[in-house]
Amino acid sequence: MNLKNKINPDKLPSHVAIIMDGNGRWAQRQGEHRIFGHQNGVKAVRDTTEAAAELGIKYLTLYAFSTENWNRPVEEVNALMELLVHTISIEKDTLNKNNIRLLAIGDLKSLPPKCYDELQEAIRDTSGNTRMSLVLALSYSSRWEIVDAMKQIAAKVKAGEMQADQINDEVVSAHLTTAGIPDPELLIRTSGENRISNFLLWQIAYTELYFTDKLWPEFSKEDFYTALIDFQNRERRFGLVSAQLNSK
Ligand code: IPE
Ligand code: IPE
Ligand code: MG
Repeated sequence: MNLKNKINPDKLPSHVAIIMDGNGRWAQRQGEHRIFGHQNGVKAVRDTTEAAAELGIKYLTLYAFSTENWNRPVEEVNALMELLVHTISIEKDTLNKNNIRLLAIGDLKSLPPKCYDELQEAIRDTSGNTRMSLVLALSYSSRWEIVDAMKQIAAKVKAGEMQADQINDEVVSAHLTTAGIPDPELLIRTSGENRISNFLLWQIAYTELYFTDKLWPEFSKEDFYTALIDFQNRERRFGLVSAQLNSK
């Protein structure tokens, strides 16, 4: 039986988030420049998006560029932005063909104008698609997002639009850039690093974490299926005890 057939379609996560890490190391291992690794990471993005859509997953969020990544050498940042513009313009037709909607989270205004425009155009041109949402995290960091939400909420309280004691989980969630998107049930990180690197800190409160040593450019559909099978074999207790879950 192949891996895909081992996935239970009734127990699929509706949202999978991925920290796509290891492009630079993948390139350097073969004596190439780090940018070569980013270029080769695009295939893994394509394959994973296709695999998720085929399975019926509703949201796939990919961490493509963090707020902290702006501090990398300028040539690498520029190459990543170029690659982004190029990839979005090339892949837009495929997204439409596959009925996939593009969304983006992060401090998008900080992107170079060409990148920002290309992104907004792709978001607009795919907005009617309903099979899956592909969410790109760009210039994203969770602390930035939470601080930004705090500012919006504080401003509303100050303006008398809401009371401080009305602030609850739902209100905070509704002011994050992920408003309207369900929390991920599964978070995958490639490249053997066991950390979150400022990604979706609020949203992953009860998310299952899956770490693999595979570097992002070598991450395949089979690796994605393996992560899903691992997820499906876990017991998600949400603070309860096993017996309570089994008596439901
Ligand atoms: C992930 O790969 C892509 C981005 C962060 C943009 P890296 O570029 O972090 O690759 P490593 O971790 O240095 O190998
Ligand atoms: C996390 O990878 C960000 C993205 C995958 C976009 P990094 O390579 O930037 O993370 P650290 O610096 O190793 O924690
Ligand atoms: Mg890295």
